[in-house]
Amino acid sequence: MSLSPNTPGLRDLQGREQLAELLRRAMEARNAGAKKPPLFVKIAPDQTEEQMHNIAEVVMAAGIDGMIVGNTTVTRPPSIPEDIAKEQGGVSGKPLFELSTRILARMYKLTQGKIPLIGCGGISSGADAYAKIRAGASLVQVYSALIFEGPLLIPRINRELAALLKRDGFASVKEAVGTGNA
Ligand SMILES: Cc1cc2nc3c(=O)[nH]c(=O)nc-3n(C[C@H](O)[C@H](O)[C@H](O)COP(=O)(O)O)c2cc1C
Repeated sequence: MSLSPNTPGLRDLQGREQLAELLRRAMEARNAGAKKPPLFVKIAPDQTEEQMHNIAEVVMAAGIDGMIVGNTTVTRPPSIPEDIAKEQGGVSGKPLFELSTRILARMYKLTQGKIPLIGCGGISSGADAYAKIRAGASLVQVYSALIFEGPLLIPRINRELAALLKRDGFASVKEAVGTGNA
């Protein structure tokens, strides 16, 4: 677990109007370039149901290539020690896993599998990555665990994930996406 310094006002950009305008301009800039790289939106896991609806609608209407769910949380999950809970900033790592996976599953439902979701938050094993995929992620991102464990984390996650997919009869990650999201 670690704490991320929050950019002042960053989360205000997730409001419906602000986000629509931001994405309109970002898409315009992207489409004007020769390379046209994919454009992803990364959201905080601290959204109300209404905010999630708005974000899903605006992101899909803007033609964004995918959504990363998500960033650190400004809430304080119960598993973190009291002295650390008092500090400022966004919580990352293991304590973030449950919240970010719940929000990912909800976002998968709201976007009806129409845009790729990148699961992020508290992943440190193949089982964690698998849970994100079953909740609706087509890809996963790791941050804190990579800092604590180093680059060998990636082949370990790949090995563990491959074993879990095989155990459950999936021939690929693609087949497993969203299958745990009843
Ligand atoms: C110190 C720190 C700095 C971060 N900076 C960024 C950033 O600049 N851009 C970004 O999209 N996410 C940033 N993040 C969020 C991470 O990319 C990631 O979404 C979050 O930590 C949850 O994943 P994890 O539990 O694997 O760490 C930062 C996180 C931490 C802890």
